[in-house]
Amino acid sequence: MWKLLLVVTSLLSLSSAYDPTWKSIDSRPLPQWYDEAKLFSSTGECFQCLHIPALELFMKNNYRPSFTYPDFAPQFTTEFFNPVEWAKIFENSGAEYVVLTSKHHEGFTNWPSNYSFNWNSMAVGPKRDLVGELGAAIKDYTTLHFGLYHSLFEWFHPLYNIDKENNFSTQYFVDSKAMPELYEIVNAYKPDVIWSDGDWEATSQYWKSTEFLAWLYNDSPVKDTVVTNDRWGKDTTCKHGGFLTCKDKYNPGVVQKRKFENAMTLDKYSWGYRRNAKLTDFLTMDELLSTFIQTVSCGGNMLMNVGPTKEGTLIPIFQERLSEMGEWLRVNGEGIRKTRPWIHQNDTITPGVWYTMKKESDGSVSVYCFVLKWPTSNVLSLGVPKPSSNTQITLLGYPGTLSWNKGSGSGIDINIPAIPFNKMPCKYVWAFKLTKLSNELKHHLLKFKPGQF
Ligand SMILES: *[C@@H]1O[C@H](CO)[C@@H](O)[C@H](O)[C@H]1NC(C)=O
Ligand SMILES: *[C@@H]1O[C@H](CO)[C@@H](O)[C@H](O)[C@H]1NC(C)=O
Ligand SMILES: *[C@@H]1O[C@H](CO)[C@@H](O)[C@H](O)[C@H]1NC(C)=O
Repeated sequence: MWKLLLVVTSLLSLSSAYDPTWKSIDSRPLPQWYDEAKLFSSTGECFQCLHIPALELFMKNNYRPSFTYPDFAPQFTTEFFNPVEWAKIFENSGAEYVVLTSKHHEGFTNWPSNYSFNWNSMAVGPKRDLVGELGAAIKDYTTLHFGLYHSLFEWFHPLYNIDKENNFSTQYFVDSKAMPELYEIVNAYKPDVIWSDGDWEATSQYWKSTEFLAWLYNDSPVKDTVVTNDRWGKDTTCKHGGFLTCKDKYNPGVVQKRKFENAMTLDKYSWGYRRNAKLTDFLTMDELLSTFIQTVSCGGNMLMNVGPTKEGTLIPIFQERLSEMGEWLRVNGEGIRKTRPWIHQNDTITPGVWYTMKKESDGSVSVYCFVLKWPTSNVLSLGVPKPSSNTQITLLGYPGTLSWNKGSGSGIDINIPAIPFNKMPCKYVWAFKLTKLSNELKHHLLKFKPGQF
């Protein structure tokens, strides 16, 4: 009955109807907001984000013998979870969207799902609707977009294991759990991002992914704004869907034909919170910003993951990194937001120099040149930008213009002023802005498939 309804609706809305095929799904342009934003933050909210073998060993060594995975739930208390405080921390980081884990591989839903009886955050543990509370805080207190991560498969679900034993020729789990849940979170929380995961053991046909996506794009309450990724079945990753995530920490270093996302984590070794983490396990600001600049230069967005504690807090080291990110973006954000890849992503002469470009509203073009290390001599030689007689160069966050000379090749030599330490615009990764270059208009934009970038 419900299937019939779907068919009727897609016949009626002729203008923007997507069919449940990858060809049709892939033809949808990415909503503009997603391309213009470059940074977002995600929270791994599973309360034990460990791989199963590691988890079993950990439990064997640390918990009473009859302790099973569900026994973790009551320990997931979130008594200090303050969604408004989180919303402000994320907004202050300069991120433009936030993605919360609605359900990780252990199947525990962080919302009161009607399809997860007694294994959800309202029934056990927090006794709260974490998804709803954070979603409301983000909407009420910030201008950020709110998205949801959702794992299709579940480690322990008996119906999933039956389907798996049947070589996925049955779809008991998809029909009774995975799909009803996805429709439920979209209808209840209207997320602007669906970050799908846990797809890799079965095909998108098993998951009924294209049916879901056709509904999402044609008829859901977020049909015009929602963005999704590429993890919809083992046949889709790095190929189909919205933006491409390919593999975790995807940072190709060369420009990509489609919008991609570098999904990385501030804790180098984990997506979840680890009680035993050391200071050196966290990315430094230098490492974080290098990754960010390379990602943006090549046409990607970066996902910065932080794992909250079971008490519902973000530990100070995460708060500090997020806040430093915000401080940096307040100075350098104009070379990041709404930018596109330029002719070259990095310089041909000086290593560690990455470019972005932006078409301004008056039609002029600015090229931003990010240096990962402050130049050690008083000249920065660049091979890619070709000066015209009117070329102007500034350093973002520093007053005045910088003088330059034609480089020994066809590039440009920027004279680096001696700036007192307390006048430096920021502490890491500086951005020079170059306007009126003779080769400013050559950029990669035209090479992209329409709608995909
Ligand atoms: C669960 O079902 C009830 C009753 O139909 C409904 O009021 C509630 O909104 C549903 N929960 C979600 C998360 O959709
Ligand atoms: C699943 O596939 C395996 C390997 O091809 C085969 O041995 C097994 O019998 C299949 N199981 C079912 C239920 O079809
Ligand atoms: C530019 O980046 C590419 C890809 O990461 C790298 O192979 C190349 O060495 C870089 N060029 C310079 C001059 O650093």
